[in-house]
Amino acid sequence: MNEHTTVTLIPGDGIGPEIAEAVVGIFADASAPISWERMELSSAGVAEGSPLLPDELVASVRKNKVALKGPLATPIGSGHVSLNLAIRKAFNLYANVRPARSLAGLTTRYDNVDLVVVRENTEGEYSGLEHEVAPGVVESIKVITRTASERIARYAFEYAVRENRHKVSAVHKANIMKKSDGLFLQCCREAAEKYPGIEYEELIVDNCCMQLVRDPGRFDVMVLPNLYGDIVSDLTAGLVGGLGLAPSGNIGDDISVFESVHGTAPDIAGQGKANPTALLLSACMMLRHIGETDLGNRIERACYDVLAEGRFRTGDLGGTAGTEAFAGAVIGKLQSA
Ligand code: NAI
Repeated sequence: MNEHTTVTLIPGDGIGPEIAEAVVGIFADASAPISWERMELSSAGVAEGSPLLPDELVASVRKNKVALKGPLATPIGSGHVSLNLAIRKAFNLYANVRPARSLAGLTTRYDNVDLVVVRENTEGEYSGLEHEVAPGVVESIKVITRTASERIARYAFEYAVRENRHKVSAVHKANIMKKSDGLFLQCCREAAEKYPGIEYEELIVDNCCMQLVRDPGRFDVMVLPNLYGDIVSDLTAGLVGGLGLAPSGNIGDDISVFESVHGTAPDIAGQGKANPTALLLSACMMLRHIGETDLGNRIERACYDVLAEGRFRTGDLGGTAGTEAFAGAVIGKLQSA
């Protein structure tokens, strides 16, 4: 029997606990060699003056080096800073990897999407440096550094090589933000020179969005600064069926946290309706990351098969199945495989 890997599980807010439960159940049934170390974290529990992330949670992630996380709410326009940002910063999770792939049996506008968004995850517009310089005038500082840009560009090319991808598209707005996005772009160009086997192209972000909705099949690996990566990856999730299907990994040098792209879905939280696919596919990415490639692929395949058959689909995909019924169908598929 394989040795068990201990993984920190942060169910999170809103639909988080429901979809986390579904993933834990599927993993148990698949005899996945994972021991979960459950840590509670919630936007509701953030108290003024105390650290955003509990010491116990930080210690658990540092020890285990791998975590699976549900969504966490962030107050809009005021209140505490994002717990998601706090996690990415605390563990220096510099690369946010968000694959988007057309799924057989799910009718969307395109059936040839197979791309990966690699988003810089630590700086840019997410530096958190905002202030009011005079009444009615606020500044928000976008920080782009050579260190972080080189690191993410290198990651994108290394990812392309490792995953047998053929092209990297660097996405920017350096025509307007000549210095900040200019530096990001320069670092992408320098990285491209070191990987002559990988095709390289550059697109301005607005044109990139237009190209994505017209012809997403032309994209392979995309590398973007933080904010563009966040927005474009929701667009690419929409191309393949929506947020309920979009997985992601936040990767650092030695710690990685896997999570669905979507948020807490407050409109359906607590109703047993949420689609657990995104978190399940994130958990499969996690399995591959820790070397359990076959198992990750097997669970992913079972999930894709259930979606393709169409008998069990959650409301976001036009079906009537609840979270539990969908998870049960994935378990059934695993057992019959
Ligand atoms: P959202 O992703 O929570 O919801 C957008 C729409 O997609 C809603 O109609 C929701 O019902 C639907 N949806 C999302 N995930 C679904 C799933 N698994 N199954 C079925 N339907 C699903 O985005 P929204 O409303 O903008 O954000 C709500 C909260 O989530 C905010 O506090 C936001 O800050 C937070 N958030 C957290 C993220 C994270 O923890 N990584 C990412 C994005 C948002």
